[in-house]
Amino acid sequence: MKKDAYRVAVVGATGAVGNMMLSVLEKRSFPVKEIVMLASGRSTGRTLKFKGEEHPVRELTESSFDGVEIGLFSAGGSISAKFAPIAGQEGCVVVDNTAHFRMEPDVPLVVPEVNPEAIAGYTARNIIANPNCSTIQMVQVLKPLHDEAKIKRIVVSTYQAVSGTGKDALEEMLVQSREISNAIKWTKDQGIDELWAGLGKFRTMNANVYPHRIAFECLPHIDVFLDNDYSKEEMKMVWETAKILDPAVKVTATTVRVPSFFGHSESVNIETEKKLSPQRARELLDGFPGVKVLDDPRNNLYPLTALAGGEYETYVGRIREDESIANGLNLWIVSDNILKGAALNAVQIAEILIDRYI
Ligand code: A2P
Repeated sequence: MKKDAYRVAVVGATGAVGNMMLSVLEKRSFPVKEIVMLASGRSTGRTLKFKGEEHPVRELTESSFDGVEIGLFSAGGSISAKFAPIAGQEGCVVVDNTAHFRMEPDVPLVVPEVNPEAIAGYTARNIIANPNCSTIQMVQVLKPLHDEAKIKRIVVSTYQAVSGTGKDALEEMLVQSREISNAIKWTKDQGIDELWAGLGKFRTMNANVYPHRIAFECLPHIDVFLDNDYSKEEMKMVWETAKILDPAVKVTATTVRVPSFFGHSESVNIETEKKLSPQRARELLDGFPGVKVLDDPRNNLYPLTALAGGEYETYVGRIREDESIANGLNLWIVSDNILKGAALNAVQIAEILIDRYI
């Protein structure tokens, strides 16, 4: 029998994604009987607000999941590696936001608008994986196009927000931006060489989170580099698209960190088996759950992080034919990486879980 409400733990509750998980649970009126906020020992003594009340943050330990029915994890891969199986064995169903379990065959990897039926496989280990943020927004938009015209190949370049790295990274970007903006007093009536002179001392800058400065820079480097010279973030897009959308679709990716706050942007090129006009693509996307078409470039209307940030929808626009091949389209996709790319997708999975399974 379906329960009225559930005991829910948020692991990494003090972090960027954890904070947002609490907010999404509250905003979507998820039936929470008791909320358990978990973080590192450093956060003991802190409280966090949920539904108007302050709740203590507790240190994550092996006994944290006693009686907990759903665990939303976002405290890093090594924490999930250790604690998700412990929670699962206690009967708590884990929705894990890290990459740790995503490609394990007996762990479902789910975007609710794309492959909700995969959730049924949670019983193998009581773990469901939340995909990579860049993959989620891409497969969500490509799903109706694939169903209609069968995508053969995807070429994607990402422009990913700093919030995806966490609060330390956001602070680092702000500190660096302030330092540069305050130091450079250049105005347009001065020469470009004077601007260069001012910028010179910031070519290398104190950076702790990223290997280089992120302020006013684009870093073609997300996660570690692998033997094939792709970054792990790029290969996550390849591997995860195959698992969620279709293993027959070929994917190649370049992932780039840019100095925006919230919202990943993606330039996506697809080659399809059947011809798909931009107009037909717009029609298919218009009614698709969680997708908003914003495609009137002559009136300066296209997806922007300033529009998609803080919103539940994934925005798509700049839909146009790839004139270099017979059956190709280009799209620009933007979504809030902390919401649909992480917290919202996890809560949507939990909603299906309680609706259909527990
Ligand atoms: P804490 O705030 O106690 O360090 P972000 O990605 O925004 O940096 O957040 C990371 C989240 O993961 C935080 O909630 C952080 O808690 C949590 N976390 C980090 N290390 C641990 C740990 N060893 N045990 C439990 N939670 C951890």
